[in-house]
Amino acid sequence: MDLAIFTTPSELGHYLQSHRSQSIGFVPTMGALHVGHQSLIDRARHENTLVIVSIFVNPLQFGPNEDLDQYPRQLEIDRAICETAGVDVLFIPTPESMGIRDTLTQVIPPPMMTSGLCGRTRTGHFQGVATIVTKLLNIVQPDRAYFGEKDAQQLAIIRKIVADLNLPVDIIGCSTLRADSGLAHSSRNQYLSPTGKAQSAVIYRSLKQAQVLVASGETHPPAILAAVVTELGTVPEFQLEYLELVDPETLQLIEVVDRSVLIAIAGRIENTRLIDNITIDK
Ligand code: PAF
Repeated sequence: MDLAIFTTPSELGHYLQSHRSQSIGFVPTMGALHVGHQSLIDRARHENTLVIVSIFVNPLQFGPNEDLDQYPRQLEIDRAICETAGVDVLFIPTPESMGIRDTLTQVIPPPMMTSGLCGRTRTGHFQGVATIVTKLLNIVQPDRAYFGEKDAQQLAIIRKIVADLNLPVDIIGCSTLRADSGLAHSSRNQYLSPTGKAQSAVIYRSLKQAQVLVASGETHPPAILAAVVTELGTVPEFQLEYLELVDPETLQLIEVVDRSVLIAIAGRIENTRLIDNITIDK
């Protein structure tokens, strides 16, 4: 089947009227598709009969000093990737057709989930994500929606919104895809030089240190975090923004590692902001 492309919610809604009998898998993205997105699409393809990908660089989730204008846009390449991956529908709404304006009703996730981790420095970011994801889920009304575990805070917040607002969709978290060096695939990796990419591998290396320590019986977050900081220190170019050990569902800080924990890092290399995390199961 050819890839169908729609640019407004009403066009997509019209098309979906005659496709509602299918099981719909939805992969919301901001474009600049990479192998991480492809793994989400592959899973959606495997589990549904109709696959919809959206590309929308959501202005609501960028702060005033962030990279909205520079964010990579490569529509023709993304379209070819979707065609090859067997996507049925590509939804590329404009800000106007998504109703982006000052008076737009916003979805505000619980502050306890947005005050730490990325929310500490990215004020309003998760409100922007929550608002747009809720709108997209209402427009597409998929059976399943697929999100990467690399954005662990985003995933936890979306799960909470879907549960609290009774949205009839299964949220599927998909494992992070990594380069051989361990660097998590991300659209923002395009900003990095080859040297920056090599240096960024320290993030995953340091997360693995935490995993080794927990496996050896360490339960005290300060000891675990200290080992991570030591490893991060081997690459002085890496500027740490945060390092936190939290409950994967509630995102609250953990005092003793006696259950599964999420250990998450954000920082900059070559002024590119990178995030990564792993969940360590007990
Ligand atoms: O993860 C992303 O690409 C975005 O935050 C999302 C979920 C598409 C919302 O704009």
